[in-house]
Amino acid sequence: MTNWMPTLSPEKPRYVAIADAIAADLTGGKLKAGDRLPPQRELAWKLGVTIGTVTRAYQEASKRGLLSGEVGRGSYLRDPRPNYAAAQSISNGVEPGLLDMQMSAPPRVTQAADFEAGLTEIMRDPGWIELLDYPSAQGFALHRAAGVKWLKKSGIDISSDQVVLSSGAQSSLISVLSTITTPGERFLIEPLTYPTMQPICRQFGLQMRTLQNDAEGVTPDSLEHYARRGEARIVYIVPTLQNPTTATLSMERRQAIADIARHYDLTIIEDDVFRLLADDAPPPIQSMAPERTYHITSLSKTTAPGLRMAFMAPPPGATEALNRQQMIIGGRPNALSAELARRWIETGVADRALTAIRQELGVRRDIAMQYLGGLQVRCAPGSMFAWITLPPYWRPSDFAAAALAIGIKVTPGSAFAMDPSVQQNAIRACFGPAPSREMVGDAFERLRALIDKCPVEDCHTMA
Ligand SMILES: Cc1ncc(COP(=O)(O)O)c(C=O)c1O
Repeated sequence: MTNWMPTLSPEKPRYVAIADAIAADLTGGKLKAGDRLPPQRELAWKLGVTIGTVTRAYQEASKRGLLSGEVGRGSYLRDPRPNYAAAQSISNGVEPGLLDMQMSAPPRVTQAADFEAGLTEIMRDPGWIELLDYPSAQGFALHRAAGVKWLKKSGIDISSDQVVLSSGAQSSLISVLSTITTPGERFLIEPLTYPTMQPICRQFGLQMRTLQNDAEGVTPDSLEHYARRGEARIVYIVPTLQNPTTATLSMERRQAIADIARHYDLTIIEDDVFRLLADDAPPPIQSMAPERTYHITSLSKTTAPGLRMAFMAPPPGATEALNRQQMIIGGRPNALSAELARRWIETGVADRALTAIRQELGVRRDIAMQYLGGLQVRCAPGSMFAWITLPPYWRPSDFAAAALAIGIKVTPGSAFAMDPSVQQNAIRACFGPAPSREMVGDAFERLRALIDKCPVEDCHTMA
């Protein structure tokens, strides 16, 4: 056992400083692979910190691939070779030691064994050497058939000739917009929505016109308001567990939107990436207006985002143009990913991942809500984030900066506003990607303490 006594950087949270010291001393030779670190209680006592801080520090070091060990058996140092966890933090642009609550991603539930089994099966089948060739524009028929099966879970019934494969819902959105819009045209969108729509619309020269939302989501009246005046011909909607408000449109609203679209000849882009996480989502708008709806789903939120696999159900007759566009923009999926996704859909691994993600999100949501009592929070069951209205003394951007200073990345509400006039005083905190439930609890405890702490001297004058 090592008698290690770390030197801690005073600027960082204690647990990050301890993890940093482990890394530095491994590189510097004070520690070596195979050494056992002091028991947590002992190190806590030596450093004058709580055991919880040392537990977090060791978790952080494990996340960086510096420790191995089982609960109760001690923490042993590992070779600080690059590992996937550390590599991912780097490539995601998240510094080690920061908890990323910005990324709207599910908890990682996919088992290494499923990954290995899927890839091994692919390698064993000599026919799949074809995966290394350029795929055709529409992709492999088997992959489209898997898409039909997955879309059926959402109540979408289309043929495999009609399904469009792409490398994530974001690629699907880009190929739809590049196919059906013309630069300069007006485009209807919810006032708060998926932030990446801003740069995408800018890229296509679209002028966004924001609809109105109430507690249930986008209002059909606001859609009719623009449609009647012929102001736009395309509308983008996230109908289920909306990002960031977590609202789900009722059956009546979906029907009203479909009716208005038909009456005024609007095209609907239905981005339903969160749908399968909801308990009882009403039928998709696509099923009410299939002739004018581009329905988009992906495996990112329901299986694994790194697969980069999405399925689109476009209106009849639209498939060929979309596939052509996918070739131009480079939006086709990697055939290896598509094959892994197909096998997981066919063998039930994807269903199992979906169930596990839903369960884990439910537990995490309960943990988060324990710390958010008395605040105005939107976090519908199934969602992977909480949309938290801040007290008037916090500006969302200041709050996000203050949260970053304590090691937590959250997104200020302005990132979701499609129009600068959309007033909101909220932040979005995602509890999906955190490495553990403990870290979710700890993060929300600290965020709550920060919310309650007024950043200026006299808060009463601002209430
Ligand atoms: C509403 C919405 N649509 C699309 C996406 C992108 O999904 P994908 O990872 O499949 O590209 C996201 C990701 O956060 C999202 O929130």
